[in-house]
Amino acid sequence: MKLLLLGSGGREHALAWKIAQSPKIEKLYIAPGNAGTASVGENVPLKADDFEGIKTFVLANAIHMVVVGPEDPLVKGVYDFFKQDAQLKDIPVIGPSKAGAVLEGSKDFAKSFMQRHGIPTAAYRSFNGTNIEEGLAFLETLQPPYVLKADGLCAGKGVLIVPTLEEAKREFRGMLDGMFGQASATVVIEEFLSGIECSVFVLTDGKHYKILPEAKDYKRIGEGDTGLNTGGMGSVSPVPFADKEWMQKVEERIVKPTIEGLAAEGIDYKGFIFLGLIKVDRDYAYAKAGDPVVIEYNVRMGDPETETVMLRIKSDLVDLLQGVAEGNIDQRTLEFDPRSAVCVMMVSGGYPQAYKKGFPITGIDQVDGSVVFHAGTALKDGQVVTAGGRVIAVSSYGQTQQEALVKSFTEAGKIHFEGKYFRRDIGQDLLK
Ligand code: AMP
Ligand code: GLY
Repeated sequence: MKLLLLGSGGREHALAWKIAQSPKIEKLYIAPGNAGTASVGENVPLKADDFEGIKTFVLANAIHMVVVGPEDPLVKGVYDFFKQDAQLKDIPVIGPSKAGAVLEGSKDFAKSFMQRHGIPTAAYRSFNGTNIEEGLAFLETLQPPYVLKADGLCAGKGVLIVPTLEEAKREFRGMLDGMFGQASATVVIEEFLSGIECSVFVLTDGKHYKILPEAKDYKRIGEGDTGLNTGGMGSVSPVPFADKEWMQKVEERIVKPTIEGLAAEGIDYKGFIFLGLIKVDRDYAYAKAGDPVVIEYNVRMGDPETETVMLRIKSDLVDLLQGVAEGNIDQRTLEFDPRSAVCVMMVSGGYPQAYKKGFPITGIDQVDGSVVFHAGTALKDGQVVTAGGRVIAVSSYGQTQQEALVKSFTEAGKIHFEGKYFRRDIGQDLLK
């Protein structure tokens, strides 16, 4: 099979690494890819949202399947583009339709979807320019801290958690005034949930599903979960508190009603669902202490969760993707690797604020026994250089999480570039 993967980050390198291991793969292309994906497939200089360019490439190279890494092409309707094109309609796209991608593209839609289907999520209301006064009044009914979310996509920056009512009112007005452009023309205000987060991934053909290994990511730049939010500084899988009993609740209360709800609403969804969950530590109207509650849906895999989840899938991912395309994923095998997997993200000095690019990266060839996934790298005159804030993910296995972490820290120590930084406390909160 010839497969085209869209995207260019660490998530896509991890997907490409796993896909390339499949005996079913004759040729793997990645568009546009990065310096790392070039080692497991062939990079194609096309942007992931250049649909006409993708069409030309797919037809010229007789591609059998397209897998979509990031949300952007999905929200822009790449699935529908293929379905509506006479020449492309029989080539499966792994990723939801535009209607399905709204689960990530609109927080207001995601909240109302969960409410319609009885899926536990924080109490909320949505507001826009026509009911500002009601929004301010709603804030007064809530307890601090206050959670304000821009309805639309904001590259992970559209959520504000503020400590005082006064600040919440000011930020609420600011958001409606265009703080995030059109994305915050509608603002979701919701109840704050207290607890510990976990990412759960589902692969569905629209009717049946498989639950992939769960993971936990570490979003803050500083150790001890301090400082600014980033795209993700590391991840671990499995997550000890996501035990059998907890995952059963996730499946019954969240996964099943989500898949059934999508089908009942006539939404075409063949792809990954990323459930951003929280194990709440006190009782709420919709969940008891210890239960899973949904914080958000994403319509893709997580980054850097994919850099551990792919290590923990023992089965052939391409066989599972074929199950998605053919509507029989229930008949495919999904076996987990029982070992722990962790990922430590090496980032550019200054990230997530201003940072420089173009520094040579050395020592990758010294890494032994860990998997190096490129996130923000490029090839310049044959030399791998930094090309983003998140640069390289070092993923490792271990019999225990701690063993895997020590391995990743040791191997990350062999890789050098000017200003490199990584957190040395990934996973430590779970050991308590
Ligand atoms: P989101 O973009 O919806 O994932 O939100 C980004 C982050 O904000 C989440 O990963 C949580 O850490 C936090 N967050 C979002 N909603 C809530 C909430 N209702 N209560 C507590 N934390 C939240
Ligand atoms: N790791 C969180 C995300 O991919 O959105």
